[in-house]
Amino acid sequence: MKITKCLFPVAGYGTRFLPATKSMPKEMLPIVNKPLVQYGVEEAIAAGMTTCAMVTGRGKRAIADHFDISYELEHQISGSGKEVYLQSIRNVLDKGVFTMVRQREMKGLGHAILTGQSLIGNEPFGVLLSDDLCLNDGPGVLSQMAELFKQFRCSIVAIQEVPHAEVGSYGVIAGESLRDGIYRVDQMVEKPDPKDAPSNLAIIGRYILTPDIFDIIRETPPGANGEIQLTDALQIQAKRGCVMAYKFKGRRFDCGSVPGFVEATNYVYEHYYAKS
Ligand code: UTP
Repeated sequence: MKITKCLFPVAGYGTRFLPATKSMPKEMLPIVNKPLVQYGVEEAIAAGMTTCAMVTGRGKRAIADHFDISYELEHQISGSGKEVYLQSIRNVLDKGVFTMVRQREMKGLGHAILTGQSLIGNEPFGVLLSDDLCLNDGPGVLSQMAELFKQFRCSIVAIQEVPHAEVGSYGVIAGESLRDGIYRVDQMVEKPDPKDAPSNLAIIGRYILTPDIFDIIRETPPGANGEIQLTDALQIQAKRGCVMAYKFKGRRFDCGSVPGFVEATNYVYEHYYAKS
């Protein structure tokens, strides 16, 4: 079964980037000259997920405008030497379909995903948190996961090893290693105290979810920070059926934090922009 839709929860407040994010969405912050969310959309489209379903919120209109034509801009620079600067967003607009729904109250990632149900329907789908920027030279992380889905046909979370002291910032999994980098999850905890964490395998912002997750989220009570946590719903799904965890190939930058954002900027400048 081919996965054609990807959900982008982009409703969060981005408080760690205030004051920059007071009236501008965090997802529109650029890494060099491209907004974070466009990197994510390009990764999803490359994985065949050409319907990009955005869960937005108040103050996020710039995202909807970004994935639409700007007639004024097209008119101004058409035929000029500057047209090349529009090429990457034109490519995205040619290939993708963009749908939006608003999350009225920020009740957590699980709640954001449930809000996106009307855009997804009853089929497996990708989820991409655009503040996790993933880069590699081969197939992107969502492409790798879509390939794996063909085999396992259940929800999959992307994981990476993090220093043990940092596990409290993530959802953490434990499970049986089936083969190199692939685990069948039997335990998942959101933001554990490092001394209680079952491992240092942290969930990052890429998921493939089967649609039964929506009903499970509906019955999931608020967890860490009083928010409805996707990790808690996935823990229930793992107990009832199957959830896999996949140590992806590539490099991930936590662009939701200022140090990660600066690191990503330097990396993209050196490895891509300066060489182009
Ligand atoms: P984060 O907690 O990292 O994002 O949520 P945030 O809340 O914007 O950041 P800070 O902590 O205030 O700086 C992870 C992802 O989930 C989305 C966010 O937009 C982000 O992409 N999210 C989170 C929602 O869409 N809705 C929510 O209710 C919560």
